[in-house]
Amino acid sequence: MASISTPLSFLSTTANVSAATSSSFTLLFPLQPKRHRYPKSKRHISKVSCNNGGDDNIISKGNRRDVLIGLGGLGAAASFTYNPFAVANPVVTDQNSCGRPNLPAGAKPIPCCPPKATNISDFVFPSNQPLRVRKPAHLVTGDELAKYKEAIRLMRALPDDDPRSFTQQANIHCAYCHDSYALDSTLPPQVKVHFNWLFAPFHRWYLYFYERILGSLIKDPTFALPFWNWDHPDGMDIPAIFTDRRSSLFDAKRNANHQPPVLVDLDWNRRGVDTSGEVEKNYAKVYKCIADVKGPACFFGSSFQAGGGVSSAAGSLETLHNTCHSWTGDPTDPNGEDMGSFYSSGRDPIFYCHHSNVDRLWTIWKEKFGGVDLSDTDYLKSSFLFYDENKNLVRVTSEQCLDQSKLRYTYMDVPIPWQNAKPKPATNKAQRAALTPTPLNPPNLPLVLNSITSFAVKRQFKSRSKEEKAEREESLVFEVAFDKSKDVKFDVLVFWKGDPTQATPKDREFAGSFVNVSHAPNAKDTTAKFIIGITDLLDDLEADDEDNVEVTLVPQYGVVPVTINNAYVSYDECSFKT
Ligand code: C2O
Repeated sequence: MASISTPLSFLSTTANVSAATSSSFTLLFPLQPKRHRYPKSKRHISKVSCNNGGDDNIISKGNRRDVLIGLGGLGAAASFTYNPFAVANPVVTDQNSCGRPNLPAGAKPIPCCPPKATNISDFVFPSNQPLRVRKPAHLVTGDELAKYKEAIRLMRALPDDDPRSFTQQANIHCAYCHDSYALDSTLPPQVKVHFNWLFAPFHRWYLYFYERILGSLIKDPTFALPFWNWDHPDGMDIPAIFTDRRSSLFDAKRNANHQPPVLVDLDWNRRGVDTSGEVEKNYAKVYKCIADVKGPACFFGSSFQAGGGVSSAAGSLETLHNTCHSWTGDPTDPNGEDMGSFYSSGRDPIFYCHHSNVDRLWTIWKEKFGGVDLSDTDYLKSSFLFYDENKNLVRVTSEQCLDQSKLRYTYMDVPIPWQNAKPKPATNKAQRAALTPTPLNPPNLPLVLNSITSFAVKRQFKSRSKEEKAEREESLVFEVAFDKSKDVKFDVLVFWKGDPTQATPKDREFAGSFVNVSHAPNAKDTTAKFIIGITDLLDDLEADDEDNVEVTLVPQYGVVPVTINNAYVSYDECSFKT
């Protein structure tokens, strides 16, 4: 941090509590909820929960429904559309429901739906298939590169109406990310694979079929998609295999200022190229979003069910991956096409290698950091449609992709240089005490986030026992209203005592960043939660005995108003047991 003695007077500190809002919320979130059980297949649920399996989960769903009803009365969360009589079921993609996508302003209208199939088969695990080993893109050379280029060349040569063609493959992302697939009359109205728990399984399946199609085009069942190893210094710039203009792997719509050897900035704030210790900053960012995340709901994102409402929360895996999209896309295009907007990102071959690394980090989280997959039936039974390498339309479920070995692929074991990159606090308790000005007030809600703002968020418990901490991850939750077709980023600092513009992910006080990449504009879908686990963070800052979490929000970019409708501490939203 730059200086711990920077005066805080330039901060816009909010006064005036909406006391009714905070206290009512507290009352409506009883910590020992009454045990209600709902039949698994037809139960009432909340629209904004971040659930996974287990008994606690069912309780929480019933419980949180009441919370929302309560808040509706107060008007504090008026933007959450919610029907208390809706029932939840797994999201099931229906090919007949596919229609025109909601595209951001400035995008050329395109149809995103795949050709209709007369028959849909259920996925069957591959038998007698060799194991496909995905390796870092910067290590792909010679024969492997020649095969990869040839496979993409052949894919580009297929006619547009072939479901395996380059265009159709790119449009898969457009259809699932821009509201093409309708659900039914329940909320949410469309299938969405961002800002919710479908993010990880959808993209795993997407890569699976894409890789199988490429392998079949070159008749090589061992063909494996490389991964963009942006969590290792050797892989942190755009891999050389993508930069040769004559290659089928090239895409002209990329940021001209971000060509090698410029390193990816996983905390990109759109202020030119940052050369100040990017490697360590990137390590800290990956550490925070992967190694540091305990609650599965905080890793995967909020629940998303048919009848489950439109409100949502991205998990840390998705949030981490967002910045790299915006960083790679061409800023001179209206929506940062190709990589910078979800409808177009599948047109850049690098997209699939970026996601290969995201998929790998999911695996690393489970293998090295004790991560556990979700077990909620609504998650496991959610399903998507993909054309396979033989042009057959196949229905796959999220459950079927959880065991990578059954899909016959794996990742080359390469060093994980960020695994011990835990950030250090910029100030310790004593330094903080010496610097503390007048105590901060609770936020004045709703808060339009147009400048750096600090406030205090009340905690219900402090100095919890080790067991309690292990049992329930404390989290800081923000309810955010914004236009989802616009890019947005703001950072969240806790107990920060210096100049907020100088905080970086290398500081332990830098709790996380809310990041949106342009996707479907939808007047009925303008809110999201941002949930950050803070149990260990508060321990590291020696702040577990504090009554409040001192929060500083630092807006970085976002061309439309971003409003914070609510900010509170929760002991449920990250830590459901699986
Ligand atoms: Cu569907 Cu990288 O996004």
